[in-house]
Amino acid sequence: MKTIIEPFKIKSVEPIRFTTKEERKEILKNAGYNPFLIHADDVLIDLLTDSGTSAMSSEQWSGIMKGDESYAGAKSFYRFESAVKKITGDKFIIPTHQGRAAEKILFSVIGGKGKYFAANTFFDTTRANIEFTGAEAFDLLNEIGKHPEIRAPFKGDMDVDALESFIKKYGRENIPLVVLTVTNNSGGGQPVSMKNIREVSAICKKNNIPLFLDACRFAENAYFIKLREEGYQNKSVLEICQEMFSYADGSTMSAKKDALVNIGGWLSLNDEELAMKCRNLLIVTEGFVTYGGLAGRDLEAIAQGLEEVVDEHYLQYRIRSIEYLGEKLISNGIPIIEPPGGHAIYIDAKRFAPHIPVDQFPGQSVTCAIYEEGGIRACEIGSVMFGKYDKNGKLIPAMMELVRLAIPRRVYTQSHIDYVAEVIIEVFKNRDKLKGFEIVYEAPMLRHFTAKFREIN
Ligand code: F0G
Repeated sequence: MKTIIEPFKIKSVEPIRFTTKEERKEILKNAGYNPFLIHADDVLIDLLTDSGTSAMSSEQWSGIMKGDESYAGAKSFYRFESAVKKITGDKFIIPTHQGRAAEKILFSVIGGKGKYFAANTFFDTTRANIEFTGAEAFDLLNEIGKHPEIRAPFKGDMDVDALESFIKKYGRENIPLVVLTVTNNSGGGQPVSMKNIREVSAICKKNNIPLFLDACRFAENAYFIKLREEGYQNKSVLEICQEMFSYADGSTMSAKKDALVNIGGWLSLNDEELAMKCRNLLIVTEGFVTYGGLAGRDLEAIAQGLEEVVDEHYLQYRIRSIEYLGEKLISNGIPIIEPPGGHAIYIDAKRFAPHIPVDQFPGQSVTCAIYEEGGIRACEIGSVMFGKYDKNGKLIPAMMELVRLAIPRRVYTQSHIDYVAEVIIEVFKNRDKLKGFEIVYEAPMLRHFTAKFREIN
């Protein structure tokens, strides 16, 4: 059969609230044209993030009931630990309340001034946790990953020559670890090939530098390897995941993505001394080593989610639904990062609205228009999020001006996706009317969450 169906039945539903275009105009104005400041109840289809927004299965919900809430040594911890070990093969599994908590602990222990870290691309919380310690973070994405219009199978790969030069320049003793973000969220949800993981791992081993995976979307990455990399077609996704992790010395994880839960994360590693230091910090900041800021029931739900996420019917539906949206947009001439990534479509706002200069935030304009047209909430990933100012107050723009449509896992059906495409196509038809924005309020850090804007007429 050609049709790929949602591999589940729906047992519990959550109504969504419809608003009119006139109401949405008012809502946008009141939110200072910042979708982060819109009440979720005023959103019809919420594509702000795929993080913590998954629908849990009936098995996960029954796991919630079975959760063992003992402070120390809970049964749920051991189920969680064994589920994480099965995938990562790592010796020490430290639960945390979400991904950035694992990052905070790891980089507090190994970071500091005079330390240098490299990744294909650091996610913003990872970079922030590194920089917060006084260390520096460098993105060494391969060239092809920087071109939204070029189609290539593994645009998340790290540039291995750049990694060699980086190690020479900063000295192996000053590089506490190297990170591969799988898939590469900030670069369009693009996968990293097994070949690249293997090569990066070999360079790290040669220089005695540990390699860690930022593993948030490990299963989506593994499925892309199965589809696109020679030699993996007949391997199971679980085997591919195990091989990916086998080249690494540890991982940080936000379970809010590929563990199909609403909260949770982990830090996994093999180095005992480092694990002890991290556990000590965990006790100060998150909680005891067998719950790390989570309830026993959350650990149960993660353990179950990790079994479900490697199911190939699930991954086929997951990857196909993103690709399906991408194809609809591409066939209507809408510029997106190609090929579609694993968890989101990224519209290239510079090409969508070329008449809006970068310092008037074309991504913000497209994001607001999509909300106004159809009640769909997306997220600007461009100069609002990453722009900086030079010493004269002039904007230093981000590398790309993108609008991310992140698809929550197992939440929306094909007709929701059809609707999303229809709304965006409509906005694209009227793109000449889109206006630029200026910022009227911004916080000194992470301004995109709270900034307010004015339309420029
Ligand atoms: N690493 C990556 C690659 C991520 O995408 C995220 C979160 C984190 C780390 C941090 O995890 O949120 O559990 O603390 N990404 C979300 C997003 C927020 O919308 O892309 P967290």
